[in-house]
Amino acid sequence: MTNRPQRHTQAVSPRAVSAGGLSSNGAAEGHVCTHWESYSARMTQRDPHTRPWWHEAVFYQIYPLSFADSDGDGYGDLDGITSRLDYLADTLGVDAIWLSPFYKSPMKDWGYDISDHTDVDPLFGDLGGAERLIDAAHSRGVKVIVDYVMNHSSDEHPWFVESRSSRDNPKRDWYVWRDGKPDRNPPTNWVSVFSGPSWTFDHTTGQWYRHTYLASQPDLNWRNPELVDAMLDVARFWLDIGVDGFRVDAAHQMMKDPLERDNPPVPEDWQRPFKDMGEYDDFVHLYDLAHPDVHEAHRAFQTVLDEYGRDAMSVGEIHIFDLSEWASYYGHDLDEFSMPFNFHLMACDWDARSIRALIEAVHWNVPAGAWTNWTLGNHDEIRLASRISAGQERLAALLLLSLRGTPFLYYGDELGMKQTAVSDDRKKDPWGDNVEYLSRDGERTPMQWNDGPNAGFSPEGIAPWLPVADDYQTVNVKSELQLPESTLNMYRRLLDVRRESEALRFGSFMVHPSSSDEVLVYRRESDHETITVALNFSDAETVVELRAGRVVFSTVDENREEAFRDSIVLAPNEGVIVRHRR
Ligand code: NOJ
Repeated sequence: MTNRPQRHTQAVSPRAVSAGGLSSNGAAEGHVCTHWESYSARMTQRDPHTRPWWHEAVFYQIYPLSFADSDGDGYGDLDGITSRLDYLADTLGVDAIWLSPFYKSPMKDWGYDISDHTDVDPLFGDLGGAERLIDAAHSRGVKVIVDYVMNHSSDEHPWFVESRSSRDNPKRDWYVWRDGKPDRNPPTNWVSVFSGPSWTFDHTTGQWYRHTYLASQPDLNWRNPELVDAMLDVARFWLDIGVDGFRVDAAHQMMKDPLERDNPPVPEDWQRPFKDMGEYDDFVHLYDLAHPDVHEAHRAFQTVLDEYGRDAMSVGEIHIFDLSEWASYYGHDLDEFSMPFNFHLMACDWDARSIRALIEAVHWNVPAGAWTNWTLGNHDEIRLASRISAGQERLAALLLLSLRGTPFLYYGDELGMKQTAVSDDRKKDPWGDNVEYLSRDGERTPMQWNDGPNAGFSPEGIAPWLPVADDYQTVNVKSELQLPESTLNMYRRLLDVRRESEALRFGSFMVHPSSSDEVLVYRRESDHETITVALNFSDAETVVELRAGRVVFSTVDENREEAFRDSIVLAPNEGVIVRHRR
């Protein structure tokens, strides 16, 4: 069995705070100093001998279509990733990679529509290529996690082809089929995440099937035991091949109201918890996601990981912004996900005060014995450098890599890649077909390796599947490696400092009283080390009072290294790491 941490207290703190409400209701704000003792008790370290690898790892998400094209077809592939492992392991220095889907797929949702869970799509290579990649990563000490798409398959999956063939097919119930309403409307008013009804009428058998996303992504029925067994075997297949865990797609979506009630429209004073989701925002999603038996499915999935007797991990894509409910995906006995993905920083107002309140609220809600994670970007979100206040992407990097919890980086963010405008004739994302401004193409453009043709992503003369960003001549790995002050070199220095610092990797976390509306200051502490991180979110020079220490890292000045007695001066948008003598 794995060394899963045991839960000591109730799974969810009564201090449940919805991230969306933080700045307005102030519920988390008093925690900074007044709850110092109980707070630090919650932040105590685990026994190092039982700390799983993924607590200390820095993860790097690769969107395989866009990372490296080894065979010159314009699409990134597995051999391309293998050829760039030295960059990941040595040049940058990350510990684990998460690969978005590379399975067989008609590519309607670019791989998130799987037609064979246990084979590799020819666009990416073959199964041998997956094995080579995993082995080569492991030989460099890099762990590999892969996407596990739990909620749906492609409509071209043989399971669905069978299921739709007749009402009495043995696999009929592996998907969700229903009669329409008496007025010939779909069974419910549920809207698909990508807009439009989440039911499609199928003429072959005269019933509707449910799909949380595209009509070509029918929902799997996790209330059917045979489907559950088949899907758990998929997880075993990849664990047998050697993956170290899974990022679980749409993990909160799978179970819906068994009574299939219509969702109510949103009230007038409704506040959006996250980003604009188009038509999906017209309804309160009371009945079309996260029915309580979703936890049963996740527990079943976790038992498969446990079967493998090593520290396989799982991170569940949970787009729930009520922190108490979000935290319930650790499981009542910490028997569900190793971690629900923590997207809350991306939903938070970008200022020192709101971020501080959010961090406190997240920590309060993570159950005792569990561990959290932080991320600022992925293949579904506007690129970090284009989303936050101008000039603060380096500050964001320091925040992400110095909080207590596992950081997840998104490919290219380490270069400062920006959201790329993609012209109509090059657009690929099906969400953008339905709601233009929600297209995700701009955050999925090719990795920028050098200032040559196609930024080194595809060979010269090939048109990459999405256009290369205009700034590739300066924003690329090769050029940035030559500039000491580049964003890439800042990430490398930061990752070095983190690697050498047990306080940053797993020490306790406490907000420092010098924090203000402009500056966020926190302490990270282990048995042997005390670190302070200070982040200036303002565009003015700011003095921060701190006990004596030495600056060991600055986001804006690669040469900054100075000892100080009782205060430091931060430049506009500067963040620093300070080491204190014990
Ligand atoms: C969430 C994934 O992150 C997204 O890219 C995908 O389109 C949907 N789930 C459907 O699988």
